[in-house]
Amino acid sequence: MATAAQCPFEGRDDRKTAAAFEHGVQYKPGSEVVRDFDGVKTILRSNALVQDALDAAVVKRMAPDEIPLIFLDGKLHRDRRKQITDFFMPRAIQEKYEPLMRRTADVLIDDLRRNGRLRIDEASWQMAVTLVGELIGVTRGKSRARMRKTARRIERFLYRTHFHHLTGWRLKLAKTRGALYVLDFLVRDVRPTVRARRKAPQDDVISRLIAERYSEKAILIDCMTLCGAGMQTTREFISLVAWHLLENEELRAQFLAGDGVEQTAILEEILRLEPIVSTLYRRAPEDVGDAGYEPGRSYAVSLRHANVDAKAAGACPFQLDPSRKARMGDQGGFMSFGNGMHRCPGSPLALNETRVLLDMLLRVPGIRLASEPTVKWVPHLATFEIENVLVTCGS
Ligand code: HEM
Repeated sequence: MATAAQCPFEGRDDRKTAAAFEHGVQYKPGSEVVRDFDGVKTILRSNALVQDALDAAVVKRMAPDEIPLIFLDGKLHRDRRKQITDFFMPRAIQEKYEPLMRRTADVLIDDLRRNGRLRIDEASWQMAVTLVGELIGVTRGKSRARMRKTARRIERFLYRTHFHHLTGWRLKLAKTRGALYVLDFLVRDVRPTVRARRKAPQDDVISRLIAERYSEKAILIDCMTLCGAGMQTTREFISLVAWHLLENEELRAQFLAGDGVEQTAILEEILRLEPIVSTLYRRAPEDVGDAGYEPGRSYAVSLRHANVDAKAAGACPFQLDPSRKARMGDQGGFMSFGNGMHRCPGSPLALNETRVLLDMLLRVPGIRLASEPTVKWVPHLATFEIENVLVTCGS
């Protein structure tokens, strides 16, 4: 087995978000941090452990059909997950979503050509909202102007979670504002779609949930979960990949010359180095029995560390090497989409929309990075936000 010590480029580190992570990382107090690849995999695949992300203990006290998918365990989780998995089948992605990916990329590239400049970190939000919004149903058939308003409403309620550092009256005010943003999304986006789909169902998540007799509140919660899990992550992923490819001419040429499989290998390798979600949490319930875990123990599972464990990643684990996947077997993005029963169902959508957008964007003549992007660490979500990814085009 290759080790980091054998790396001929020892010291080379291609990560752009590592410093922000080192500086800002926080783990849930009292949790045991698991960093090695095998340990991470074992925990994520264990049926004896339960989800312990964010405010899991509070969320799990809600009515079962109002608990977001990601917080469910066991049979409840399996039954709920079934409602969405077929939306992400390869055929659905290719036939239903790829044409929309191309149309959306065309619109964004028109903006770039017309204005001579484009903020990728804003364009990536439009791309992510359009695709996941289509899947849910809330952006379907909307004009660009209406879509922008929906995107703004979603951005407001998702990013309200940034009030974790506040206390006292500031916290109360931020929570009230956050609740109003959610209400706005319900009234202007979710409720009208629910009404329309009750009359004429379509092939989207809202129609599916109506058919399963979910309450309006449960539908709202599922929509919010998909927005958070699918839009925020893909936005950062697109910005991250664009940054890598715009800065590295050789890699960009390799990407543009590659077929779908080769392009995806490059994306997965970037995601291995810089997982959008760095840490997941699992907990051993009090009645865990003899599964080998201490009752009540919480585990902070570090995908970021597991992905660069030389035992699994091979030599030069901090180096961006698209041939790694072929060398190391079919691990792809390693743990960046999780593992086991909660593994990300949306990964094919995220990879494809990023691939399609960048393949079209990077072919615009004279496109170049015209700013120094910045990385901000968001400790309570164990993620980062990339800003100021400005590109210009022309001679
Ligand atoms: C690059 C983009 C993405 C990344 C890095 C990502 C990452 C992840 C990770 C690490 C998990 C596992 C959470 C855990 O085990 O606790 C997860 C779960 C999930 N993701 Fe993604 N995701 C991405 C895109 C998407 C998209 C586009 C969608 C849907 C439209 C989506 C929907 C979900 C859902 C619903 C879950 C919960 C699954 C479950 O609990 O069974 N994700 N994602």
